[in-house]
Amino acid sequence: MEKNIVLIGFMGSGKSVIARELAKRLKVEMISTDALVEAREGQLIHEIFKSKGEAYFRNLESDIVREISSRRGVIIDCGGGVVLRKENLPHLKANGIVFYLQATPEVIYERIKHEGHRPLLKTPDPLGCIKELYQQRLPLYNQADHVIDANDASIEGPIVEILKKIQ
Ligand code: S3P
Repeated sequence: MEKNIVLIGFMGSGKSVIARELAKRLKVEMISTDALVEAREGQLIHEIFKSKGEAYFRNLESDIVREISSRRGVIIDCGGGVVLRKENLPHLKANGIVFYLQATPEVIYERIKHEGHRPLLKTPDPLGCIKELYQQRLPLYNQADHVIDANDASIEGPIVEILKKIQ
């Protein structure tokens, strides 16, 4: 596999599980931008947001994206907000095929409502917040090379579709 497979989409769209499974089936390395940010900073993401703020996190995320975009033949699991900095997607596309895992705000909410570690959703109205962020980000996510339906609870559909597209 020459090109990278890059997964983008809202938190809860299944990027990490799908990335892990693709890596297993294709026997290639999987890289997570969130994990690399945490490793570099020695802090969890919600702690970075709290102590240093979102802009600091986004800078780190962009540094990581620039660095890993030179890799080849790996699966890249991106944080949900990676599309917010306009330089990130062109970097990721340079050596990669970008897949947007699309799931509706309602599906996303159901998947993540019990998780306490999402800094952007620590609000009294998480579904409203998801809907708002979703609308803002949709045009950015749609700049992916392919849109994959990730609303189903099973990851098999998205996996098969992605594998078909890269063949
Ligand atoms: C974020 C999504 C998170 C993480 C951070 C910000 C976002 O990644 O990068 O909390 O802005 O949507 P996941 O999509 O992997 O949860």
